Amino acid sequence: MRSVLVVDNSGRGHAFADLFVRTDPDVVVHYAPGCEAIEHDRIVSAPWLDLYDPDPAPMVRHALELGVDLVLVGHPRPLANGYVDAFRAAGLAVIGPDRAAARLESSKVFTKDLCAEYGIATAAYRWFDAPEPAVEHVREVGAPVVVKCDYSCQGNGVFVCETVDEAVEAIERLMVARDFGPGGARVVIEDKLVGKEQLFFVLVSGEQYVMLPMAVDYPRSEDGNEGPMCGGMGAFCPHPEETPEVVDRFRRQMLEPLLAAVRAEGMDYTGVLYADCMLVGDRLYLIEINARMGDPEAEVVFPRITSDFTEVCAAVLERRLDRLPPLALTDEYFVDVAATQGPDGVHPGWPYGSVGRGHPVRGLADLDPERCQVFYGGARVMGDGALVTDGGKVLHLVGRGDTLEQAIDHAYEGIAKIGFTGIRYRTDIGKVMPWE
Ligand code: GLY
Repeated sequence: MRSVLVVDNSGRGHAFADLFVRTDPDVVVHYAPGCEAIEHDRIVSAPWLDLYDPDPAPMVRHALELGVDLVLVGHPRPLANGYVDAFRAAGLAVIGPDRAAARLESSKVFTKDLCAEYGIATAAYRWFDAPEPAVEHVREVGAPVVVKCDYSCQGNGVFVCETVDEAVEAIERLMVARDFGPGGARVVIEDKLVGKEQLFFVLVSGEQYVMLPMAVDYPRSEDGNEGPMCGGMGAFCPHPEETPEVVDRFRRQMLEPLLAAVRAEGMDYTGVLYADCMLVGDRLYLIEINARMGDPEAEVVFPRITSDFTEVCAAVLERRLDRLPPLALTDEYFVDVAATQGPDGVHPGWPYGSVGRGHPVRGLADLDPERCQVFYGGARVMGDGALVTDGGKVLHLVGRGDTLEQAIDHAYEGIAKIGFTGIRYRTDIGKVMPWE
């Protein structure tokens, strides 16, 4: 029996754990901190560990005590905090970019500067360490612009501003009010690109890589693609516009130049690289990089993979991805609808502000797992065994079906059974496209 440690606490981490145990009958997944609500005899959570601890030592000790064969770090915070470097220094086999390579996500300025140096297409930009020159800049260049935290806020902290007033408000929220924390110390202001957003996920092992299926993500918080950008209210896979030509353009125009730049800078990238791109005419522009898989994209991409994922990871570690047979995928559709903690009478809820915690979650026992699977995010189990809310994206209800329509029906049939104080979700995932 092989054992793996997955470091994460989101629906993405649960989807990784599920991918291992579903495709490899001989693996045990230690999931840290994970979520105790997961009922699987080969997924073992460690809720006493803190994913946000800047010191990786407790997590490394846990891995050494367990004697795991492999560690996979899925969450951006431990990646930015150098957990991969610490696992590696302790002699563990680990998948995930080290601290230097994780800067591709943890500093947007770093990535924009890399693009500029290596001729990778991206929107024109300036960055600022103080609000006054940032405001002066937007008054000078006018709108529309995009205002972003330099530091990764996991899909939050990005404002697409159609007017100068909106841009000034975004700068004040990020840099003065610090609504998104210390990441607001530096902001990037870039031209708004007009085109079609395309997301690509790649499993990278140095110079080798394997493309994962594309997915459609819903970054806006409200129905009709309204409301602020957030980490994603839902997703679906397969992508209706994924073709060999689309993937080939990404390889030629973006991935290969990017990996060449990464190598030229002395970075050794291992793990999932998520490239968020904008197609303008026939040219792909880089919007940003996530140095890990997306959430909720993982929850719809991973269920399609049927290849033994432990073997895939072994190939990543042994630098033999080029000799791996193509990833085996099911043709089924998967649709994720995120059940989020909205307003509860006291808190405005996610993503608008503080979120209420500790609200009992009802209805999970009524789900039909053949039609709708749950992935746990901001949820935890109390001493009395009750499942309660504990964050913004509480649960992901993932419907499966032979068609997109059937998967949508199964996801919404599932979420209709779930209840907690302040539950909020989009009602149009898969029904409207995020670019409409
Ligand atoms: N869904 C966007 C992200 O994972 O950052």
